[in-house]
Amino acid sequence: MIDLHSHILVNIDDGASSMDETITMINQSLESGVTKILATPHIHLGTFDNDMHIIKGAFTKLTEHLQTSENKISLAYAAEVRICPEIMILAKTKQLPFMGKWLGNDVLLLEFPHSHIPPGSEKLIDWLLKNNIQPMIAHPERNRDLWEFPELLRPFKQRDCLFQITASSLLGDFGDRSQQLAWQMIEKQEVTIVASDMHNLKRRPSKMKEAFEDVKSRFSENVAKKLFVETPDLIFQSNSTIWTAQ
Ligand SMILES: [Fe+2]
Repeated sequence: MIDLHSHILVNIDDGASSMDETITMINQSLESGVTKILATPHIHLGTFDNDMHIIKGAFTKLTEHLQTSENKISLAYAAEVRICPEIMILAKTKQLPFMGKWLGNDVLLLEFPHSHIPPGSEKLIDWLLKNNIQPMIAHPERNRDLWEFPELLRPFKQRDCLFQITASSLLGDFGDRSQQLAWQMIEKQEVTIVASDMHNLKRRPSKMKEAFEDVKSRFSENVAKKLFVETPDLIFQSNSTIWTAQ
């Protein structure tokens, strides 16, 4: 499996808080069948003020640490960017880290607040698309506005946004409503990929394997492979920061 959403970089957001924790998260992923992980720390202005330089530095520290490890893992980095008007400046000044490519465009993992969809989001998405940036909406199933009004997703579907569902949502870890919306979106074939969004070992571990098995038994192995392996791999392979343990 290929995991395109994770908070494994040490101490730059609310994810891993030590190198040991990161290594255990990576090992746990490997044991569950994940072979490639994309680190996507938050860029959330005013809360997690990360930039390309900080993210690249934390990624290099991790790969240097893994240099001597025998694990067969591939890593790369991007970011999970909270929606805000400043994204346009970050894009223009080439400071947005992308997940990889989708039909020739750069894929941006874009996060809405959990409470609502900010007014003007569609306009920002139009601007991104015009600038060859393909938004992938992070875990829409966890948005409280979408629980009440799933039709609010329509403008984003119409604009061909990609959608990432979180593995543990499918298992009910974020409550019934997230779980219900996540399954509904898979059923309607609206989901592009499933990823772990793992933050730590205790409260937010990777549940990729369990979710893969659930999707396989509710739908089919082909559906599970597409969401957990094939489509995420297409994006991962086009990321320009891939590092592989030798
Ligand atoms: Fe995340």
